[in-house]
Amino acid sequence: MSQQADQFKKLVSHCKEYGFIFPSSEIYDGLSAVYDYGPYGAELKNNIKSYWWKAMVQMHENIVGLDAAIFMHPLTWKASGHVDAFNDPLIDNKDSKKRYRADQLIEGHLDKIEEKMNKEVEKALKRFGDSFDEAMYRQTNPRVLEYQQQYDAILERFTKATAAGDMAELKAIIDDLEIADPDTGSRNWTEVRQFNLMFSTQLGNIAGEDGKLYLRPETAQGIFVNFLNVHKTTRQKVPFGIAQIGKAFRNEIVARQFIFRMREFEQMEMQFFLRPGEEMKWYAYWKEARMKWHLALGTPAEKLRFKDHDNLAHYANAAVDIQFDFPFGFKELEGIHSRTDFDLSSHQELSGKKMQYFDSELNENYVPYVVETSVGCDRMFLALMSQALQEESVPDAKGEDATRTVLRLHPALAPVKCAVLPLLKNKEELTGKAREVFDSLKHSFLCQYDEKDAIGRRYRRQDAIGTPFCVTIDFDTLQDDTVTIRERDSMQQERVHISKVEAIVRERTDMSVLFR
Ligand code: GAP
Repeated sequence: MSQQADQFKKLVSHCKEYGFIFPSSEIYDGLSAVYDYGPYGAELKNNIKSYWWKAMVQMHENIVGLDAAIFMHPLTWKASGHVDAFNDPLIDNKDSKKRYRADQLIEGHLDKIEEKMNKEVEKALKRFGDSFDEAMYRQTNPRVLEYQQQYDAILERFTKATAAGDMAELKAIIDDLEIADPDTGSRNWTEVRQFNLMFSTQLGNIAGEDGKLYLRPETAQGIFVNFLNVHKTTRQKVPFGIAQIGKAFRNEIVARQFIFRMREFEQMEMQFFLRPGEEMKWYAYWKEARMKWHLALGTPAEKLRFKDHDNLAHYANAAVDIQFDFPFGFKELEGIHSRTDFDLSSHQELSGKKMQYFDSELNENYVPYVVETSVGCDRMFLALMSQALQEESVPDAKGEDATRTVLRLHPALAPVKCAVLPLLKNKEELTGKAREVFDSLKHSFLCQYDEKDAIGRRYRRQDAIGTPFCVTIDFDTLQDDTVTIRERDSMQQERVHISKVEAIVRERTDMSVLFR
């Protein structure tokens, strides 16, 4: 098993063992690509959502919040293009009976060519050292040039086929490139066909097509259909934004990789309504703002990158992903899309209701353009957990080498902010005092009282769930009201007066530190 695959396996079992994430309805063997968040997972997820909400709504005077329903009038999805175009190209392998997305098979092939090119460049860099001119090498080395030509030709063919919805051509590309089932190596494929990703259900009192409802595949449409309501009731002027956090549902064909691709997930989306013609200015603004939001959490810059879309969605005139270096490689974490006036105009056309805004400065009516930022809460969770979970060597109580598992989450996002630990369990003076400390701190943040096991083991348990501070009550506490406060990352311990604990923990864990 590769190191990355091993790391990923450890992450999945850590999430289960420590109560972050459980497979859904596990007693019935689970449900594919659906997960439940356990006690610490629910806290972390709430903190991620709170960080996003504060960054968007609290920190921007011109962004307001919304909480729209999951069910919407079915015509919403006709107008948005999801009924006709929210499809993935599906292909089955006849031997393995496994189902794949044809576009992902082709993209995987392109990634391999890119990897080969990069390896050639890396080899040359080692050979030539500081005098190496990478750009020149890429333009002149025959092998790299050959790979680049192959890459460009496939990408051009793939982009055209996708834009035209040409399933036969996608199948032809897979055959021509001799792409095999990644699991079995078989090339015995079915034809490629379109598969709509929306889940549907039925209204109780209307039979047939008329009563067909969809579970929303994105939260954005709840924002678009409420554009006029929000504008009128908040008196916001363009440019302004509407932010929303909520569940979305997609019948994903390939739903592997834990919570990366789920069938039920949560999105944090913001639609920024603006003057037509100003979309590129705001697109650049939101690209930068969103990258800063990720970096403020202490994520190393080399773990994040922008990736422009090769194929634009039916509604976009520019689109970029913020990708994160997950344990299985760089993948989309967030999308930033310039959606033009596509959605509002389509709703205007199908509903017959005007979706226009009167711009008093220009003395003009128009349908606003939109730049959207859309990040998956679950993907954000996975990104944070995968970078935070670390194993390190530390001396144990006898001074011998031991391994500690520590979850270095940003303290503002950590599920539990402070653990209160009496040194011994069966000394009532210690447990009573510890309870007093716990009761005084619990008004300010989520604390945990723990008296079970030796103190070292209790520290390890808190490290594993990412608790930034542990406060230990010992016999000196009974004399002078001081406690030991231990910091998770450095493991340094400091003796402080009980009255100072609240301020110390608050200073490091308050979410406002992320905005300063
Ligand atoms: N409103 C635009 C929109 O929905 P998207 O790129 O399809 O755009 C936005 O989705 C974000 O939602 C993605 O960047 C990802 O973080 C998250 N997301 C999408 N599909 C997901 C899935 N099946 N499981 C988990 N997260 C998903």
